[in-house]
Amino acid sequence: MTPSILPRTLPGLLWLHIYLFATLVSAYKPLSDSFLRAIPPAGPEDFDIKTGKLLAPILIPRVPGTPGQTTTQRHFVDFFTRELPKWTIEWQNSTGTTPVNGMAPIPVENLIIKREPPWVKPGEANLLTLVAHYDSKSKYDSRKQIMEGFIGATDSAAPCAMLMHTARSIDKYITQMHDEMAELQEGGTVEMDMGVQILLLDGEEAFVDWTSTDSTYGSRRVSLAETWESSYNPPSSKFYKYRTPLSQISVFMLLDLLGAASPRVPSYFPTTHWAYKNLATIESRLRGLNLLESTPKEPFLPDLDGAMGKYSGISDDHLPFIGRGVPILHVIPSPFPDQWHQMTDDGEHLDMPSVKDWSKIVTAFALEWLDMMEVWTEPGQRKMS
Ligand SMILES: *[C@@H]1O[C@H](CO)[C@@H](O)[C@H](O)[C@H]1NC(C)=O
Ligand SMILES: [Zn+2]
Repeated sequence: MTPSILPRTLPGLLWLHIYLFATLVSAYKPLSDSFLRAIPPAGPEDFDIKTGKLLAPILIPRVPGTPGQTTTQRHFVDFFTRELPKWTIEWQNSTGTTPVNGMAPIPVENLIIKREPPWVKPGEANLLTLVAHYDSKSKYDSRKQIMEGFIGATDSAAPCAMLMHTARSIDKYITQMHDEMAELQEGGTVEMDMGVQILLLDGEEAFVDWTSTDSTYGSRRVSLAETWESSYNPPSSKFYKYRTPLSQISVFMLLDLLGAASPRVPSYFPTTHWAYKNLATIESRLRGLNLLESTPKEPFLPDLDGAMGKYSGISDDHLPFIGRGVPILHVIPSPFPDQWHQMTDDGEHLDMPSVKDWSKIVTAFALEWLDMMEVWTEPGQRKMS
């Protein structure tokens, strides 16, 4: 996207020069303080664990093949259909065989929720990709011989709700940007058409013990990463850069195990350390402006000036994607929260200030990534275009 203030009357070559330069330098403009202040907080109407519109309905067991899976799916679809109708919803369904139930197949149903500029054809936009898994771990009490009602509040109900909040918070700016670009007839002229997609993945959890075949059902094998690897975008586009939906992913930002107090999320991958630093800078600026509620001893993202790419060996939904060359920004604490895979990973054990703060940090990151300073008007200033 080019700045909307460029005069159109400059001689062609000069204009082109400015245009290219402006595209490069404007590709990542930090949000101003006033923009950070304007980011809506994740309030109790959305995040209260009993009544919050986004979070409360998914604080239930969400094991694939059980009614909780269907309830959760309906919650996502209803939300986007009703509140964010410009986002498209696609399913990517498959079945997996698990070691329980005598290898009976379980439904593995990923949701792909996307917002692209209206003028792009399939396969043309690069996509900021925000990811969380919505299934919960199945826990079997072998002594009592019953399935326990494990909730997985940090794992990953809260991250799903955070992404819904982010989508709703960025939606009006996306609309504004598309409208302004369309008005200036810029739509389709910029080589870097950006969109955003939210992947709500199913079947991340193991049914018994984590192995490469009993886990990440949704992201793996017959599922998303492999399907995308072998589905080719139509070559019609004049900017035919993205061969497959995988190559459209500008960054795969995976949120997992978030919502407990004092998380420590290091930088895991050298290839995305620059993006990590942008995320950590946002946290630090928000704290500096007193716009966060939590008061941890250390920042959530401590590696702003620290080492990069301390590869963790953590297994998660990014693995099938990283193996196919997708850049990963893994937002998962190390160590894991104390309640990890305990029955106590429930709503009552969430640290609400941390949940709200993550929502704001991720929203700010998405706005900045999508270059929204282009449509931001400083309070008290008149718009220049
Ligand atoms: C995928 O599964 C969902 C949820 O069960 C269902 O609503 C949807 O129609 C399925 N889509 C396809 C393409 O099979
Ligand atoms: Zn888990």
